[in-house]
Amino acid sequence: MNATITATARYLPDRVLTNFDLEKMVDTSDEWIRSRTGISERRLVAEGEATSDMCAEVVNRLLEKSGKQPEDIDLIIVATITPDMLVVATAAIVQDKVGATNAWGFDLTAACSGFLYGLETGSKLVESGQYKNVIVIGADAMSSIIDYTDRNTCVIFGDGAGGVLLEPTKSDGGVLDSMLFADGSGRDSLKVHAGGSLHPASKDTVENRMHYVQQDGKTVFKFAVKNMADVSEKILKKNGYTGQDLALFIPHQANLRIINAAASRCNLSDEQVLINIEKYGNTTAGTIPIGLDEAVETGRIKKDDLVLLSAFGGGFTWGSVLLRWTES
Ligand code: UT7
Repeated sequence: MNATITATARYLPDRVLTNFDLEKMVDTSDEWIRSRTGISERRLVAEGEATSDMCAEVVNRLLEKSGKQPEDIDLIIVATITPDMLVVATAAIVQDKVGATNAWGFDLTAACSGFLYGLETGSKLVESGQYKNVIVIGADAMSSIIDYTDRNTCVIFGDGAGGVLLEPTKSDGGVLDSMLFADGSGRDSLKVHAGGSLHPASKDTVENRMHYVQQDGKTVFKFAVKNMADVSEKILKKNGYTGQDLALFIPHQANLRIINAAASRCNLSDEQVLINIEKYGNTTAGTIPIGLDEAVETGRIKKDDLVLLSAFGGGFTWGSVLLRWTES
C-alpha cells in the first residue's frame, strides 16, 4: 500500500514586507536583493498571530477541500523551527484549534527540509496501515526569530505555511521514494544559538542577540548548490528517470541561484520548475507545501504526473521526495 497526497493547502499572512521597506530598515537595496536572491517581497504574521494559527488555517482548508471532518484526522505532523513555544508541541495546539479530537501529533525540527522529513514520516505511517488520514504541515513564522537589523538574514526570510493530507492508495502512485540526509557538523553555519538546553535564555543571551537566526550565508550557499542538485539527480536516477520525465520540480525556495543550479543539473526547462520566491522569500518549512498547493491550483500538476520535491536547510539537512500524482 502506498501513501498519496489527496489534498493540498497553504496560508500566507496578509502583511507584506517589500524590498523597499527593508531599504529603510538596513543598508540594502531592492536591486541587490532581487539580483542575489530573486526575492521582491515576503509576508509577515500579524501581531499575536503564531505558527499554530497559520497551521490551523491550513488544516481547515485541507478539510474543506477533502470533505473530511476534524474527527477524521488521525495524526498531525508540524514541521517547524518556530513553534508557538518550546513546550507544548505546536501540533497539539493545532489539534485543539481545529477540533481534531481523534488525532495525535508532534512537531518535527529539520529547518528547511522539515516538510520533506514530515512527508516521509507521514507516508510510512500511512503505509503501515495503521493511519488513514495524516496531515503534514510545513510552517514557519520566521519573523519571530529574525533580527531586522541584520541584513545577512532579514532580506531572505518570510512567514507562511502549507500542508497536505496523506491517505492510503491501492494505486502504484503517490509517494514513490525519498532520499533524506542530515549532517550536524554544519550546525554552526545556520542556527538560533540560545533558548535551548545549551544556552538557556538569560539576560546575556538576549543582549548578545543569540535568539535570532545567525547564518554564514556563503557556506550555506555552497552546501546547498552542491547537495540539492546532487540529491535531485540521484533520486531520479535511482528510480530510472531523467529530468525529461518530470512534470514539475518543486525546490525549496531559498535563493533563485540555488534553484537554478539544481534545475540545470537535472536539465530542466523553466516550465518544469516552480518558482515563487519573489512573492514569499524563504518561509523555511513552508516553501515546498506552499509551492505544491500553488502548482495544483494553477493546473501545473495533473493526474499521473511525476513531481520532484527537493530541499536543504540548517543542520545541515537535505533531501528529495519523488511523487506520482494520483488525484485528477
Ligand atoms: O534555507 C536555507 C537558508 N539559507 C540560505 O539558503 C542562504 C544561502 N546563501 C545565500 O543565499 C547567499 O549567500 C546570500 C543571499 C545570503 C548572500 O549572497 P552572496 O551573493 O553570497 O553575498 P555575499 O555574502 O558574498 O556578500 C556580497 C556582498 C558583500 O559586500 P562586499 O564584501 O562585497 O563589499 C556583503 O557585505 O554583498 C554584501 N551584502 C549585502 N549588500 C546589500 C550582504 N548582504 C547584503 C544585503 N544588501 N542584504
